[in-house]
Amino acid sequence: MQPLAPGSLRILHLSDTHLTGDGALHQGSTDTTAALDAVLASAEGVPDVGLVVVSGDVSEDGTPASYTRLRERVGGWAERHAAALVTVPGNHDLREGFRQVLANGHVLGEGGRPLAHTLEYLPPSVPVSGQSVVAGRRVVTVDTSVPGSGYGLIADEALDRLRRALSDGEPSDGGSVVVLHHPPLPAPTALHEALRLRNAEAFADAIRGTDVRLVLGGHHHHHSAGSIAGVPVLVAPGVANDTDVVGAYDEESAHIDAGYLVVDLAADGSVWSSPVRVPRPDTDPLAFHLGADAVTRIIDAAG
Ligand SMILES: [Fe+2]
Repeated sequence: MQPLAPGSLRILHLSDTHLTGDGALHQGSTDTTAALDAVLASAEGVPDVGLVVVSGDVSEDGTPASYTRLRERVGGWAERHAAALVTVPGNHDLREGFRQVLANGHVLGEGGRPLAHTLEYLPPSVPVSGQSVVAGRRVVTVDTSVPGSGYGLIADEALDRLRRALSDGEPSDGGSVVVLHHPPLPAPTALHEALRLRNAEAFADAIRGTDVRLVLGGHHHHHSAGSIAGVPVLVAPGVANDTDVVGAYDEESAHIDAGYLVVDLAADGSVWSSPVRVPRPDTDPLAFHLGADAVTRIIDAAG
């Protein structure tokens, strides 16, 4: 992959890891820990990552052990790559277990250094809100989960925290990044439409006219891109599986597949994103390979 342009922030965007504390298979079919390990091994080839984001449904069972798996694996990757780590709860997460291991989701700061958090008990009714600064950009997390439900809703308290975070200090040219689980975009299937973010308009009002340059979400287990209030919204592919978006609208199925996004946020706030599908060596043989010498010859021949 190309090196990072000067002044840009490169984000490794994962979502929907659905880890289990006891290693049980997700949906009876998928070893999500192995899927995450494959994603992280693939991402070893991505240079200059400054921030790793996991946009919710970190856990399938809400156990502290499942969050510890994420902390060890993704946190370990981020520390080795000197990258920050930010995560946010999704509808499968339980705020209590999430907070116990991942605090407010801003786990590692710039350079991969652990962020200090005050030990304060918050009941599960309180959304997990947080903000940090990475490479001069505000990174703000918004909890869209509703305890006991699968749909998304940004509680008034979380909306207030978002507005306050975005009005904190001067807007920067590099802009702010908002991370949430339920994306403010149309859903590809009837089931996901029923589980949509119900107050996307309130979210649009909160970010309109601010320095937010990018919104990162998950939930659909399939990559898509759109915009809200003129701001790009990127939905990461799932780590756990890939939703069949061309099947019957009122049915729901997924393939065993995993992917992630590499997103560059440039100094002027422009965005470049590349989805990466993690190949499975057993079923995805290479179509071709050109060595560096061959590539140079082709480039030279092309003038
Ligand atoms: Fe999910």
